Amino acid sequence: MSIVVPSLSVSAAGLSFHSPLLNASGTFNAPLFNQLFPLKEVMGGIVTKTVTQNPQAGNLQPRTTELPGIGMLNSIGLQNPGLAYTLATEIPELKALGLPVILSISANSSAEFAQMTEAMLSHPHATLIDAVELNLSCPNVAKGGIHFGSAADSVKEALRAVTGICPKPVFAKLTPNVSDIVSIGAAAIEGGAAGLTAINTVLGVAIDIHQKKPVMPRVSAGYSGPGIKPIALHAVWNLHKHFPETPIIGVGGISNAQDVLEFIMAGASLVQVGTICFRHPTIFKSIQADLQAFCAKDRLDSVSALTGCAHR
Ligand SMILES: Cc1cc2nc3c(=O)[nH]c(=O)nc-3n(C[C@H](O)[C@H](O)[C@H](O)COP(=O)(O)O)c2cc1C
Repeated sequence: MSIVVPSLSVSAAGLSFHSPLLNASGTFNAPLFNQLFPLKEVMGGIVTKTVTQNPQAGNLQPRTTELPGIGMLNSIGLQNPGLAYTLATEIPELKALGLPVILSISANSSAEFAQMTEAMLSHPHATLIDAVELNLSCPNVAKGGIHFGSAADSVKEALRAVTGICPKPVFAKLTPNVSDIVSIGAAAIEGGAAGLTAINTVLGVAIDIHQKKPVMPRVSAGYSGPGIKPIALHAVWNLHKHFPETPIIGVGGISNAQDVLEFIMAGASLVQVGTICFRHPTIFKSIQADLQAFCAKDRLDSVSALTGCAHR
């Protein structure tokens, strides 16, 4: 009797991924982790740290605080070396890992998004980028970010500015810090998004009871990790329910294969794994093996058959 090994391959937004597992932007040093284990064996693609047009120094320290058992708060403030450096140096290094590369970008206006897209497309390394993720949802910057991503009009405009000139698939990364994420998703799709990434961090606060003041200098910060999983699943469930044809990348609190399966069954085609990587940088290995085992036990040919199955 021959044993059929289930396929973890996923097609989404015109791209092929040999696994549904991607990293979440800003939480994963891919070249470093590739020294621990070959990423291409256990991941489907790499997402860059969000880059802005010009280098950004980020926020004052402390920028992170652990919330034991439930995750962490971060207020990095989009520290990054800027688009030109990322295109020249980081993109070839990431592409050499042998996986599709998704460039995450953020801007303060749709005009700036258009300028960044033009700069990317005219760079000799443009061909090394497989897709773009628009970070419309960073809670830790004074301009752009979440402010941009909370209004349907500006989301649609930002997407139009990029998709109007970019032949690569564009994913819109949405904030959960809105009253109706479905209307923001609709605006992104109207603006030409090939897919939606849900969710970025949830706004949160921590208080230092000894100093009697907020832990983070900007008071509010981005909450991530296991505690946000139900919030992220709620977003993915509702986005898939309203836009069943649109590929969704589910992200938020994923720590194991059970979590991945929940996101896929709620409607995600792909998932991103973030905060858990700080504690367990090799987590992709066990998630991939456990996913494979689940599919084999369930006699599934392909994991993608599970996308949205909990709705049926
Ligand atoms: C330290 C840190 C830095 C992050 N930086 C970015 C970023 O640059 N761009 C972005 O879109 N999301 C960023 N995020 C959000 C993650 O990509 C992800 O959406 C969020 O953390 C939820 O997933 P998780 O619970 O698995 O971490 C960051 C999160 C953390 C914890």
